Amino acid sequence: MENENTQFIPMPRIGDKAPEFKAVTTQGEINFPADYSGHWAILFSHPADFTPVCTSEFMTFASMEEKFEQADCKLVGLSVDGLYSHIAWLRTIKEKIEYKGLKDVEVKFPLIEDITMEVAKKYGMLQPGESSTKAVRAVFFVDPKGIIRTIIYYPLSLGRNFEELYRVLIALKTADAFAVATPADWQPGDDVIVPTAGSCGVAKDRMENKKDMHCYDWFFCTKKLDKDEVLKTVLKK
Ligand code: BEZ
Repeated sequence: MENENTQFIPMPRIGDKAPEFKAVTTQGEINFPADYSGHWAILFSHPADFTPVCTSEFMTFASMEEKFEQADCKLVGLSVDGLYSHIAWLRTIKEKIEYKGLKDVEVKFPLIEDITMEVAKKYGMLQPGESSTKAVRAVFFVDPKGIIRTIIYYPLSLGRNFEELYRVLIALKTADAFAVATPADWQPGDDVIVPTAGSCGVAKDRMENKKDMHCYDWFFCTKKLDKDEVLKTVLKK
C-alpha cells in the first residue's frame, strides 16, 4: 500500500539540474547546490548513524577527503537521522573507532540531518523495496554548474568502493577537459576513446591514416593521453 514514504516522486536523472534544498548539517546550514557553484560536489546518502557499514564508509571517505579536495570536489553526506545523532556518531568515530589502520578520523565534511526525509525524497534516495524509512547508499556527482553528471546506487548491505568514486570523478573531469570518453576500468595514463567518426569520410580516413590513434575498428579508436597531463589538468595546482 502506498504511504507518504512510498509515493511516486520522479528521481533526478543524469543531465538534470541538481534539485535545490537548504539543510541543517554538522557544519552549519547549507544551500545546495548554490553553495558549491564553481566546484564539483558529491552528495551521498547512508542508511543510518551508528551502523557498521556506514561507519566503515565514513571513516574511509573522511580519510580521502583531502584527495577529493585536491580534485576540487566537496563531499556532502546525508541520512534521515537528526543532528544530535550525527554529532554523537561522528564524535564516537573520532574518539573510539579504529578500523583498518584508520583512527582519530575527523569527519570534516557536512552531514545533513533529514528527519523529514525532504531531501532524501527529492533525490530518490528512499527505495521502498529496500527500505521506506532509511535512505539507500546513493551517490550524486554534481558538476560546477550544478548539473548531475553521474548517479550510483548501492543497497543497504553493500559498502561503497571509494576509490571507484574517485576514479569516476577524475574520469568525468578528464572527459570534459579533453573531449574524450574513457573505456572500461580506465585510470589516468591509460588510452582514451576519441569521439566516434560522424561521417563515412572520417571513418574511412581513420582506418586509412590512423595518425596518432589506434583503431580497433572505424567506430572504436583510442589515443594516448599522458598521465601527468591528465593530473595537471584535473587536480588543483
Ligand atoms: C550498516 O550500515 O551496517 C547498515 C545500515 C542499515 C541496514 C543494514 C546495514
